[in-house]
Amino acid sequence: MVKVNDNYLKLPGSYLFSTVGRKQREYQAAHPEKSVIRLSIGDVTQPLAPVIIDTLHKAVDEMGNAETFKGYAPDLGYEFLRKAISDNDFKARGCAIEADEIFVSDGAKCDCGNIQEIFSLDNRIAVCDPVYPVYVDSNVMAGRAGDYNTITETFSNVIYMPCTEANGFAPEIPSETPDMIYLCFPNNPTGATITKARLQEWVDYANKVGAVILYDAAYEAYISEDNIPHSIYECEGAKTCAIELRSFSKNAGFTGVRLGYTVIPKELKVGEVSLHSLWARRHGTKYNGAPYIIQKAGEAVYSEEGKKQLKAQVAYYMNNAHYIFDNLKAAGYQVSGGVNAPYIWLKTPGNMTSWEFFDYLLENANVVGTPGSGFGPSGEHYFRLTAFGSYENTVEAIRRIKAL
Ligand code: MLT
Repeated sequence: MVKVNDNYLKLPGSYLFSTVGRKQREYQAAHPEKSVIRLSIGDVTQPLAPVIIDTLHKAVDEMGNAETFKGYAPDLGYEFLRKAISDNDFKARGCAIEADEIFVSDGAKCDCGNIQEIFSLDNRIAVCDPVYPVYVDSNVMAGRAGDYNTITETFSNVIYMPCTEANGFAPEIPSETPDMIYLCFPNNPTGATITKARLQEWVDYANKVGAVILYDAAYEAYISEDNIPHSIYECEGAKTCAIELRSFSKNAGFTGVRLGYTVIPKELKVGEVSLHSLWARRHGTKYNGAPYIIQKAGEAVYSEEGKKQLKAQVAYYMNNAHYIFDNLKAAGYQVSGGVNAPYIWLKTPGNMTSWEFFDYLLENANVVGTPGSGFGPSGEHYFRLTAFGSYENTVEAIRRIKAL
């Protein structure tokens, strides 16, 4: 008789953002007269930039013409996009990442979830706590995380690196040695960042112990300060220990369009085995490439017009971030993040648990955020608000929170 992958049964509850979405829908169904403002999932609200729309239209027309029609995309991505990425995201920052070290995909979430497949189940993962849930959940599904402890709300085989107020929400090198280290900077959910010197320490450590860093740089476009690295490859030696995951969702508003990429340098080897070759094999077997139309839109992100229009879009969201941060701080909330990231991380008032505060805000202010405990045990008593709402909704949400 067929058996299921019972690792799935170890997952506690449903995916965090599904639970948040369900609670919002239930509340709205029970109170149809209320206007609920969603500052929970990091989903963009501004329309695609004009240059992206023009490019999409042209690419659609190409698909209707026999001379320019495209079938399957190359499974590692079109050369035009990989070259634009290599030139703009890496070489322009002094990182020697070549076009053929870039694997284009339909988004960083899928890549974050899938990348663990090329590693042995014997590896131990280390994650920040709190953390973007995909890293842990995908390792649970694979059978690498061990068993769930309902008291500590942790998995037995995962090394948790607490990111708390005491350490400025920055992980410290763990006492147990991990094999795979997930880092995300600017950080989701805390909005914290890492300096180049601190990131260099992680790179040196990974090279020393033979670990691989899975570096999620999805929020790179939100960096406003100078000493914050945009890519892990700005650090010496990162090409022999790091994989970087990038997204077009947050810098170009592609959450509904879907485009991302993963960088695996050719020098990154485990013994004699090239991780680049393994991922190429996996991509070739299980993936047919992001659509041509979308990859053309991705190329437009790097045009002069694209850069200008998207800088304005990022500035729009960061204006929201500053608005939330400044107003909640003035109202007496303890807040962090929001300077190099579109997330504000706040301490729940009156020692409420994260879910108590979620319910309290939903019922009394009709504002939806994300409970910090959903990202891990060290997120308890914290709450995340996103700056990706419209300016009007952001102002109204903060007005309602301040009026509580
Ligand atoms: C979040 O809200 O944490 C993100 O939107 C999730 C994602 O990018 O998948």
